[in-house]
Amino acid sequence: MTDPTKILLGEEKIPRTWFNIVPVLPTPLAPPLHPATHQPVGPADLAPLFCDAILEQEMSAAPMIEIPDPVRDIYRLWRPTPLYRARRLEQALDTPAHIYYKYEGGSPAGSHKPNTAVAQAYYNKEAGVRRLATETGAGQWGSALALAGTFFGLEVKVYMVRVSYDQKPYRRHLMETWGATVLPSPSQETASGRRVLAEHPNYPGSLGLAISEAAEEAASRPDTKYALGSVLNHVLLHQTVIGLEAIEQFSLAGEGPDVLIACCGGGSNFGGFTFPFLPRKLAGEKIRIVAAEPASCPTLTKGIYAYDFGDTAQLSPLLKMFTLGHDFVPPSIHAGGLRYHGDSPLVSQLVHAGLVEAVAYPQRAIFEAATTFARAEGLLPAPECAHAIKATIDEALLCKASGEKKVIAFCLSGHGHFDMTAYDRYLSGALEDQEFSEADMRQALAQLPEIRSVSS
Ligand SMILES: Cc1ncc(COP(=O)(O)O)c(C=O)c1O
Repeated sequence: MTDPTKILLGEEKIPRTWFNIVPVLPTPLAPPLHPATHQPVGPADLAPLFCDAILEQEMSAAPMIEIPDPVRDIYRLWRPTPLYRARRLEQALDTPAHIYYKYEGGSPAGSHKPNTAVAQAYYNKEAGVRRLATETGAGQWGSALALAGTFFGLEVKVYMVRVSYDQKPYRRHLMETWGATVLPSPSQETASGRRVLAEHPNYPGSLGLAISEAAEEAASRPDTKYALGSVLNHVLLHQTVIGLEAIEQFSLAGEGPDVLIACCGGGSNFGGFTFPFLPRKLAGEKIRIVAAEPASCPTLTKGIYAYDFGDTAQLSPLLKMFTLGHDFVPPSIHAGGLRYHGDSPLVSQLVHAGLVEAVAYPQRAIFEAATTFARAEGLLPAPECAHAIKATIDEALLCKASGEKKVIAFCLSGHGHFDMTAYDRYLSGALEDQEFSEADMRQALAQLPEIRSVSS
């Protein structure tokens, strides 16, 4: 029999625990700081936004955390996800490299985001919470939380970045079908939204502002908590089911990855896919780990590693991360899920320590890569993960030039079926590139809060 194209696991192989990277980090994680006192935040500071179980996970240093059975039962709808060997892409590129991808687009919402949405909805339901408020960029995270909300009988309110709200009405209809209420951000519902609209009526929105609106709503209502789709430790923790399954699948494939690649917006599919492999790297295995991001929102490649606010209204704790400044409004690129000014503190610390590399690409180049992939493999990638595909193709072409037979694996974090306008613009030649400028950089530096003192 020929080697399989899809490496599949049975439902009994859905991981029973999530993998926590925190105790594995070579240096302790820089703590989040209170926005006013600049001292490390404690659970009480975050209690208006998150329920106890989630706060516990956010601050946990336990190596493994058990996945509750009701969450695993829902995971069964799409997990374990397949690991594909991209033989047809290898042939199209004429590369000696072996290319693999872990496909997360088969979830009901079409991406990796339900892996954490289901867990967050579960813990909130258990805690007696009635409503969840959140933000969404491209609509993937909002769809995932709407789905999880409907499974657990929670009301879900989504503040959707205005440019995506206008560009992607079908994502909104999907969220509404699952029972969520969706508003364009900035909205008239919150003080942050009203303030921005009064000054800039045509503001395209940003994830930073949508986070402010959702957090403001959660903080002002006792029946409502906030849910975040990326960036924070507990979100990346929940996503590690991706990498844990991939490890099992590589042992069935009989070879392991030399290069692991994922796109990085807030860092959740990147962390989820790559973190479970990090202990091997720290033990001396030669695995390269690469994060791919847009050239127009280049947090990891051009950002500053410093404490900054996670949101525009400065309501969130200060996080030590690569940032472009909390007021940065990225151009309206089609990879809406990669338009965030900061990054996960976990991913940032690993990039800063030199354990993770980062690359940035303009959007025409990533659509070219996505089209090459779609023509070879059939699946239509979300524009976000097209960044990982571009990095993978570049690595595979380097192998072609050098004759090396590396194993390259990437996370195909979602499908692009709701992104056809973007593909249409690419195919018709209307898509434009916009680079991050020196002036943007100066503005970013000017916005960073001065940290008075940090005692951990
Ligand atoms: C398909 C897909 N991939 C990746 C991302 C980026 O988010 P993260 O970096 O948290 O994985 C998003 C965000 O919306 C997404 O929808």
